[in-house]
Amino acid sequence: MRRNDPALQRKLLAWLLSPLLALLLLDTIITYATSAGFSNQAYDRALHEIAREVFLHVQLDGGQARIDISAGTERLLLTDQDDRLFYKVSSSDDRLIGGDDAIAPPRNGVPGKDGAVFYDDVVHGMEVRMVAARMAYAGNGAPGWILVQVGETLNKRQRLATEIRASVLVPQLLLIVLAILAVCVGVRQGLKPLQMLTRAVSNRSHLDLSPIDDHDVPAEVRPLVAEVNGLLQRLDATLNFQNRFIADAAHQLKTPVAGMKAQIELALREADSGKLQHAVAQLYVSADRLSRLVGQLLSLARNEPGAVENVKLLPLDLHALALEITMEWVPEALKRNIDLGFEGHGGRVMIDGDTHRLRELINNLIDNAVRYSQDGGKVTVHVLNGSQPTLSISDDGPRIPVEERTRIFERFHRLLGTQVDGSGLGLAIVSEIATVHHARITLEEDKDGVGNAFTVLFPASGSPDTSGSML
Ligand SMILES: Nc1ncnc2c1ncn2[C@@H]1O[C@H](COP(=O)(O)OP(=O)(O)OP(=O)(O)O)[C@@H](O)[C@H]1O
Ligand SMILES: [Mg+2]
Repeated sequence: MRRNDPALQRKLLAWLLSPLLALLLLDTIITYATSAGFSNQAYDRALHEIAREVFLHVQLDGGQARIDISAGTERLLLTDQDDRLFYKVSSSDDRLIGGDDAIAPPRNGVPGKDGAVFYDDVVHGMEVRMVAARMAYAGNGAPGWILVQVGETLNKRQRLATEIRASVLVPQLLLIVLAILAVCVGVRQGLKPLQMLTRAVSNRSHLDLSPIDDHDVPAEVRPLVAEVNGLLQRLDATLNFQNRFIADAAHQLKTPVAGMKAQIELALREADSGKLQHAVAQLYVSADRLSRLVGQLLSLARNEPGAVENVKLLPLDLHALALEITMEWVPEALKRNIDLGFEGHGGRVMIDGDTHRLRELINNLIDNAVRYSQDGGKVTVHVLNGSQPTLSISDDGPRIPVEERTRIFERFHRLLGTQVDGSGLGLAIVSEIATVHHARITLEEDKDGVGNAFTVLFPASGSPDTSGSML
């Protein structure tokens, strides 16, 4: 993980807390905004009652409405320990019948029949809550209506609103704090197994490739741990294999180098020019062997699965290539009294391949066939184009036992009692190159009953078959 990346814990907290806090904040704002409404609801009804009480004191006098309210009743009606109250009674034609003329008519007009409107207003410079109620009466003859307005200052309403806010906000804030705490603790607890896993991995030595214990790991993370364990196992196998290979290679290199050293020492002591020449010739043979071994090791490294990912396989004629290489081996075969032949149907046999690597594969197989065949033996290179392009090399060498047919493809593996010089790398290189070409190698005894036949089966050019394997 890069240092600048937000940690999983931080991300989870952000995802959980942001909407939670937004919701709680919204709830708080709504409660705050509606608290004044609740407070008004409670007191508006009482204000309306007072308006009705005032109306009861309206008398009709000769068709004219007038208010008949004693000072005591007025005091009783309009007295409140917290607020000041004002009233005004006016006729339908806006004539003052009684009360406080400072009260303005309702801002949004007179309410409908028998209706009442509540609104905020200012009377004598004081903010008031006002009710305007339209009251009907039956005069002598024609029915009419009067408007009763009663206003009250806001002290107890504001106090109630504050009480409502306080009673809602304090638990709300407590809820926010508790929710944040619960989310933080929950996320931390939930991620604890992951932190333990991180510690277990970071405390490891780079040499420890044993599997990670997935005992306390959450089920969701277990597949990831299983994958990492699989990777560790493969890495362990690769490292072991490479260590073994390095040890084997060092051992193989040590012998010719020690031999050359001894030959040089011998040559340095030699005074006779004939013997000196012989010693130098021996030295040349050893250097040649060493150079071949180093070349083989490089070839193995070049064809390792990790190194061949970008090899481009291009269409080429296997028939032409095998024929050309066979021709190059004729002088060597003649030297060893081997009858080297080539059999093909003459036409082109197209495969997707890498010429350099295929040359190495064919050279190694012919080299083995020529070297291990008995004197006067017969080696034949066949190229066929049956169900799939096939290269087959048959020889007259000693029969390779069935139980050894897989092992001889391993690095440095040689058959016991082999008299011919070699390091046991040729077939390992062949096997790696075959894998690069998605080809399959089989090893059987030669059809003529003497010797062996190595067969390489290639996918046809352009074939989607990529499942290379070895016998
Ligand atoms: N055509 C063959 N006939 C008989 N035995 C063979 C043949 N090819 C390989 N072998 C056996 O398989 C062993 C492994 O062969 P491989 O080519 O890998 O190594 P090598 O020939 O011993 O050494 P080099 O690395 O020089 O090729 C040989 O040592 C030999 O015993
Ligand atoms: Mg060989």
